[in-house]
Amino acid sequence: MNIKKHPQSYWTASSSPTDYPALNDDIKVDVAIIGGGISGISCAYMLAREGVKLAVIEADRILRGTTGHTTAKITSQHDLIYSKIKSTVSEEFAKLYADANETAIRQIEDISKKHDIECDFTPQSAYVFTQQDDYIQKIIDEVKEAQNLGIKAEYSEDIPLNIPIKAAVRFDNQAQFHPLKYALALAEEITNGGGQIFEQTRATDIEEHNGYTITTEQGKKVSAKKVVIATHYPFYNKEGLYVARIYTERAYVLAIKAKEKFPGGMYINAEEPTRSLRQQNSEDGELIFVTGESHKTGQGEDTTVHYENLMQFANSHFSIEDIPYRWSTQDCMTVDGIPYIGQYKSDTPNLYITTGFGKWGMTNSTVSAMLLKDLIVYGKSRWQEVYNPSRQTIIASAKSIVVENLNVAKELIKGKIMPVPQDVEIKNGEGKVVKAEGQRTGAYRDENENLHLVNTTCTHMGCELNWNSAERSWDCPCHGSRFSYDGKVLEGPAISPLDYDNDVNTVEKLIKDKF
Ligand code: FES
Repeated sequence: MNIKKHPQSYWTASSSPTDYPALNDDIKVDVAIIGGGISGISCAYMLAREGVKLAVIEADRILRGTTGHTTAKITSQHDLIYSKIKSTVSEEFAKLYADANETAIRQIEDISKKHDIECDFTPQSAYVFTQQDDYIQKIIDEVKEAQNLGIKAEYSEDIPLNIPIKAAVRFDNQAQFHPLKYALALAEEITNGGGQIFEQTRATDIEEHNGYTITTEQGKKVSAKKVVIATHYPFYNKEGLYVARIYTERAYVLAIKAKEKFPGGMYINAEEPTRSLRQQNSEDGELIFVTGESHKTGQGEDTTVHYENLMQFANSHFSIEDIPYRWSTQDCMTVDGIPYIGQYKSDTPNLYITTGFGKWGMTNSTVSAMLLKDLIVYGKSRWQEVYNPSRQTIIASAKSIVVENLNVAKELIKGKIMPVPQDVEIKNGEGKVVKAEGQRTGAYRDENENLHLVNTTCTHMGCELNWNSAERSWDCPCHGSRFSYDGKVLEGPAISPLDYDNDVNTVEKLIKDKF
């Protein structure tokens, strides 16, 4: 069974494209939200219901980034997080985190019902399982900790799925849904309530003076009393506050059709490599999502290997009939595993940030929306302490911060000193780093034999990009920016495209010189 030549997510394939206008005039609002993923859209929805005059500006099309490439599990079960928070931070924080995420599940359910959103919201049990003896005690500890926090958690030695396990923790009353159907309906509610959404409007800067002014790529201005940065990885990094505290990971999804019926439930293992499963009913029958193979963006082996590994796993548990979709996704990770949601800095009461949901963006984005709405409208939230981006407990993660920064420094230096091959052949569909006219150059040859050349120095902070063969993109190993083969920004924090050349004369000359 072969996987599709090009990635496509089931969520984007099964929902309508959007066509919100670009911002063509300067505007003034109470709150500007930068970023139209599920986090920005949910936040705008909640603020609009409070009568706040707001605008969402999105660099591309709304909900097409990580939201359109998630596995869409709505759960407070985030791996074995409760034992981790209790041991590394405090039981109080674990309690707040549990309360926030359990509330988010019910909030999504309530919103879906209230607006009759047909988003395939389905209650499910969620399982973390292990196939290794040395993880059994960790599972037992998580069950105890979750029960202690008031979550309905149970220990089990088997799961409905036909996979041999040693132990599992089960949370009931969790759910799954179609994230785009849900969030697109919220977007409609925003504009019906008088809020504005602008697409293809990239924010390039934020200035503070008596409120905030956001400048866009097209040179238009958004003046706002308050600003929420909801751009996944924050594009705005005053004082380098966040680059040292966030790293990015990519993970892969195969959507398979199998002979076997999926028994229900949502699953993830506790150990590495990660394997996560859930099903989704589609117009064309049941799909089973097999997910995993996380790695730091722009680092590691040829990315096509990750799909092959997932296929091998899927083959060993299911009789695969087809693989209609495959895609990958990117997550922002924080050093202590808890997202940063709240004031950008302790002395910026009107500038907010929301990022670092790990792989648990469905509930955490809803927590983020509720929390930011409460901070913006009422000045406080019951969860603000645990998610506070300036929380003191991050100091306890100083070692992780140092490790992350060493990793970035290593990648920065490695990219600069790594020898670049000369005289290499590039076949159709291949991308390689080559030396062209003495410069490190990224070259991709498309299926029609056209060569596309880019400068491989990341426009964010100058690290050298690597080719991602599975997604046909240039990925940055430092903070996760990604660029298309012709240099356009696919993922931030970079905001500027790469230098790009497909001028026939240059390319002809390079071909003649064999690089
Ligand atoms: Fe920061 Fe590339 S994303 S240097």
